[in-house]
Amino acid sequence: MIWTREKRYQPYSAYSKVDKENLAEQVSSSVYKPAFHIHPTSGLLNDPNGFSYFNGQWHIFYQAFPFGPVHGLKSWVHCVSDDLVQWHNLGIALKPGDRYDSHGAYSGSAQVIKDRLFLMYTGNVRNKNWQRHSYQIGAWMDENNQITKVNQLLIEAPDYVTEHFRDPQLLKVNDDYFALIGAQDKQNLRGEFSLYKTQDLKNWEDMGYIQHNLGDLGYMVECPNLVYVDEKPVLIFCPQGLPQNVLPTENIYPNVYTIGSQLDFKTGTWYSDTSMLNQLDNGFDVYASQAFNAPDGQAYLISWIGLPEISYPTDKENWAHCLSLVKRLKVVDDKLYQIPVTAMSTLAVVEQTLPQNQRVLVTDAKQQYELRLDLAPDQTGNLLLVSDGSSNHALQLKFDTNNDGYLIVDRSNVGEQFATEYGETRQVNVTSHHKLSLDIFVDHSICEIFINGGEQVMTLRFFAPQAQTMIAFSEQNKLKYSGSYIALSGME
Ligand code: FRU
Repeated sequence: MIWTREKRYQPYSAYSKVDKENLAEQVSSSVYKPAFHIHPTSGLLNDPNGFSYFNGQWHIFYQAFPFGPVHGLKSWVHCVSDDLVQWHNLGIALKPGDRYDSHGAYSGSAQVIKDRLFLMYTGNVRNKNWQRHSYQIGAWMDENNQITKVNQLLIEAPDYVTEHFRDPQLLKVNDDYFALIGAQDKQNLRGEFSLYKTQDLKNWEDMGYIQHNLGDLGYMVECPNLVYVDEKPVLIFCPQGLPQNVLPTENIYPNVYTIGSQLDFKTGTWYSDTSMLNQLDNGFDVYASQAFNAPDGQAYLISWIGLPEISYPTDKENWAHCLSLVKRLKVVDDKLYQIPVTAMSTLAVVEQTLPQNQRVLVTDAKQQYELRLDLAPDQTGNLLLVSDGSSNHALQLKFDTNNDGYLIVDRSNVGEQFATEYGETRQVNVTSHHKLSLDIFVDHSICEIFINGGEQVMTLRFFAPQAQTMIAFSEQNKLKYSGSYIALSGME
């Protein structure tokens, strides 16, 4: 199938029930379908949207093009959960096609306002000449999860930004609401954070760009998020075209964070002792993460595991991408930690202690588990996941807790290759002469590696035969380690 522009933007009504069922069947029968990660019921998933706690439940929506593995006419699909682990997919919630979202209901966020949830998002509109207009619009969701769009435009793009003006995060600060919006400045073609203020969600005051010391953020900032973690404001965003001297990155576009001391909402100024940007995830495939401050006092984050403009092996099965696990955030010594939520333990089926002095740790690990592994200081080795026992067929985790202190993830020998032009390895530095603690989740085609209690995270997709079930070291050696293998059940 050739995905012409016409095909990608034709109304959803052009697809029959049978088309949709066939597409859904392709996901259901895929060996790469995750068991405990949110994934599309058909077609493509991208950014998480509207992450919130409302009416006694957790809510997450995702950007969806339900009819193929391409970025077409986007809608929001709604998922709910009681525990941030078991998610139930309720189907399409925000359909595009109206005056202000004729060509897509793009990314946005949610805020509980009185007894309803307000969804603020970007309406993507193309004119006859295919010129884009970006409108910031809204919708209300009631306690029955019924959604009604607000027919009025909330924010029209100011004349000093280009058509790239999107992904509002709605924030409540005392009695005011603010929208943080990703923008591209028209004159300089650089990425900026726009700030708007309102009391009534109808009249919005343009506060201009946020003043900051973060340097050149490339040509566009997508998906900006402000979240307070242990009292510190943390800005999480996706700068496109970020200069390598600001932050060296290997993925096509990075997802970054920076920790400040204050965002002054009166003046729209970001105060920070550091101008340092950090990679939110040091793996291959995280983008468009969304975080929010929940009523339980915690900050939670969820990411799209997928990148724009990259083809993935499931494209040929007509579906693409998934969301990450939900991660609780904390700040320790000016570093952002990401920790899988404690309810993940409810998926545990059996736990076994790893054997000592053996090359093979687990022979028949179905690709659906958590592996906890503490490697002692001052040693090097190569841990093979999703392997047939040889490093030629494995996801390799090469570690050094000796002088150099590193962890390298190498996916060059694990099944179908993709995106190789962006490199086949990713590396993080770890403290030398220290123990290295890994908490690894494998879910059929997803691997999330939480390093040293979530101080660093490496997330990636891989597409290997499901028969590769071994967890082993590459060589017989005298490594010192301890840990356990926990088989996990899927979502109900
Ligand atoms: C990021 C993004 C957003 C946009 C959405 C469209 O992946 O490009 O900026 O709102 O995806 O699906």
